[in-house]
Amino acid sequence: MTAPLLEVSDLTVHYQTGHSTVVGTSGFTVSAQPGEIIAVVGESGSGKSSAAAGIMQLLPGNAESTGSVVLRHDGEEHELVGMPERARRPLRGTALSLVPQATVGALHPTRRVSKQFASLFRAHSVPKDEWTSRGVAALEAAGIADAARVLRSYPHELSGGLAQRVVIGLSQAMSPSVLVADEPTSALDVRVQRQVLTVLSETVRARQAAAIVITHDLGVARYFCDHVAVMYGAVMVEFGPSAAIFDAPSHPYTRSLLSASTARRADSSRPATRVKRRLTEESVAARCPFFDACGHGAGTVCEQGLPGWQELDGGHRARRSCDA
Ligand SMILES: Nc1ncnc2c1ncn2[C@@H]1O[C@H](COP(=O)(O)OP(=O)(O)O)[C@@H](O)[C@H]1O
Ligand code: SF4
Ligand SMILES: [Mg+2]
Repeated sequence: MTAPLLEVSDLTVHYQTGHSTVVGTSGFTVSAQPGEIIAVVGESGSGKSSAAAGIMQLLPGNAESTGSVVLRHDGEEHELVGMPERARRPLRGTALSLVPQATVGALHPTRRVSKQFASLFRAHSVPKDEWTSRGVAALEAAGIADAARVLRSYPHELSGGLAQRVVIGLSQAMSPSVLVADEPTSALDVRVQRQVLTVLSETVRARQAAAIVITHDLGVARYFCDHVAVMYGAVMVEFGPSAAIFDAPSHPYTRSLLSASTARRADSSRPATRVKRRLTEESVAARCPFFDACGHGAGTVCEQGLPGWQELDGGHRARRSCDA
């Protein structure tokens, strides 16, 4: 097996709010091989965006992160946590790239697509005589047939789906080893979402890059991603190949997430389960994160600290201390 392009170990993000410290994500651990796409799923507030921001090391001023994020790119290894920002900045866009949310704001509205590529290429010292050919190549790689015309266009002249292909082309124009996409398509309609995700996954696999795709759409996790990480209460509670997660979910939270999603399709007014407390380091370490909402109530085992991982078949694992 080749070395993973991304190795995240025990990544923890804390936010300072007033007098308290809130846990955004705790002990997030994942690694991604070339060509691999990993989905991160879970309800709102479960720590998905905190994990993404921690991987990118693009955290708000009140946040602090610990743990390790190792990135391998062009034969070099970079530890992003603790690296000075001036050393990290040039890696973003080249070694590691964020796919922004698919909103109108992802592209600069008054600048031609060519100008947006030019800013990227200038920032990374690409020779000027290569800008047009590399812009066309990046758009073609994102499945755009008339790339030369699209390069000359303004964003408002493009359909939503085409604009998002441009965003994907931009995010991969410097051939980053790792893409991080935080809810990349949630603002688009379902048909366009699937087109965009098809392009994203095909381009990542064709380049043998790796991607972390954060989504609340379980269909995306199931059909576009190789592995799925399930988050609840700032903690990853289950990880495994997509087929194992969807066909044989092990953690009671994953099972409830899957059955809630089936029920929500039938009754859209039904709310999802959600963590109501603000999480502190002590509360995360004290018990199973699903304790308050779990119907299995296995008793004292649930409150003897944060459960460890139970290893199942084929890299599938669940963080629980019960047999429920
Ligand atoms: N900038 C912030 N300041 C304080 N708390 C935050 C901040 N961002 C996120 N949080 C808290 O961190 C937890 C995880 O949030 P987040 O990572 O955004 O989850 P998700 O992306 O799964 O919705 C939540 O309790 C949220 O309130
Ligand atoms: S450890 Fe307890 S609270 Fe956690 S999933 Fe199992 S039964 Fe539920
Ligand atoms: Mg989020």
